[in-house]
Amino acid sequence: MTVFRVGFIGTGLKPEKPGPMGYGMAHRHVPGYRALDDCELVACADIVEEHAKAFAAAHDIPRVYTDHREMLAKEDLDIVSICTWPDQHAQLVIDCAVAGVQAIHCEKPMADTWAASRLMAQECQRRGVRLTFNHQRRFGLPFRKAKALIDEGAIGELQRIEFGAGDLYDYGSHNFDMANYFNNEVTAEWVIAQIDYRTENLIFGVHNENQAFALWQYRNGVYGMAATGPGARMVGAHHRVIGTEGIIELGPTGPGMPALRIRRYGDSQWENIDCHGETMHGPNYIERAIADVVAALRNGTTSELCAENALNATEIIFACWESARRRARIDLPLLENLGNPLAEMVANQDLKPLPKA
Ligand SMILES: NC(=O)c1ccc[n+]([C@@H]2O[C@H](COP(=O)([O-])OP(=O)(O)OC[C@H]3O[C@@H](n4cnc5c(N)ncnc54)[C@H](O)[C@@H]3O)[C@@H](O)[C@H]2O)c1
Repeated sequence: MTVFRVGFIGTGLKPEKPGPMGYGMAHRHVPGYRALDDCELVACADIVEEHAKAFAAAHDIPRVYTDHREMLAKEDLDIVSICTWPDQHAQLVIDCAVAGVQAIHCEKPMADTWAASRLMAQECQRRGVRLTFNHQRRFGLPFRKAKALIDEGAIGELQRIEFGAGDLYDYGSHNFDMANYFNNEVTAEWVIAQIDYRTENLIFGVHNENQAFALWQYRNGVYGMAATGPGARMVGAHHRVIGTEGIIELGPTGPGMPALRIRRYGDSQWENIDCHGETMHGPNYIERAIADVVAALRNGTTSELCAENALNATEIIFACWESARRRARIDLPLLENLGNPLAEMVANQDLKPLPKA
């Protein structure tokens, strides 16, 4: 049996209370690898030595580095989990790919610009390196069961996917990824959106709008619709999937609501679907995601968390912000603006968010 040598970049500190300034996500990747017989955790790197040392001590990892390049040069790693903030992802992914790492599992969102997102995917593809992103909700029972219901035609032909979320980028990365999963990864054809950004909202160092409303259409005619911030409750669910013969809701808002329910047109009531206590957030979704990533490496297959799928979600996010900037519908693929439209609007003072109180 081949045993994969696993390393971590960006260990974080295990937080007492996780939040947008530090979840210590690397700590949450560890159980995923520990559950597998063919993974050996050999090293970790963090620019803050104290973080790396605490991580190594907590998880019995033999070697600690403050320079990821030194770790890559010395450790002959097969798999690396990257758990830094998004502005670091592209450089670190490319460094791993150049160093010969076979599989890189990076935290979402892909990167802080569209150019960096595409570059990291391109450089891994050129080198035959497997690059995946931790959109772990795909492995949750409510989402799996919803997809099975859609595929078996329980709501007829798919027409529209809606979501309500805090933002389009940080948490929205999961929501767009899930919408694309429900629609079999068909790429989007156009996006139109408006945003409001009046109070600075840096999440893991990246600007996120306060409120947005977005509409997009996939190449198979299915529509997507998203509301974020104060308007998110209008959707009233984590996701709503609408077909010609019924509706599926995931995480409908309200006390005592189920994780998943379906209402076929003609039904007088919703039917709750048993998801064995699993919610929109877990448990064990990251463990399942990592099992899928390692299985793909072991078996020579492609994980559904692959960069190509992540690009499909990321493109819609940046296109939403670009649509707000240009006050126009954005036809895809997104070629013209390769940066981060929201960050650029802040930098050139088209948007002037006030500091958070
Ligand atoms: N999948 C999810 O559900 C989920 C949940 C929360 C956060 N995240 C994502 O996880 C990522 C990490 O967030 P976090 O909260 O774990 O961060 P964190 O702040 O807890 O840890 C990041 C660590 O990276 C280190 N670091 C920064 N630059 C580095 C470099 N060049 N080399 C080595 N180490 C470096 C920092 O010192 C820090 O210890 C973000 O992209 C975030 O969006 C994902």
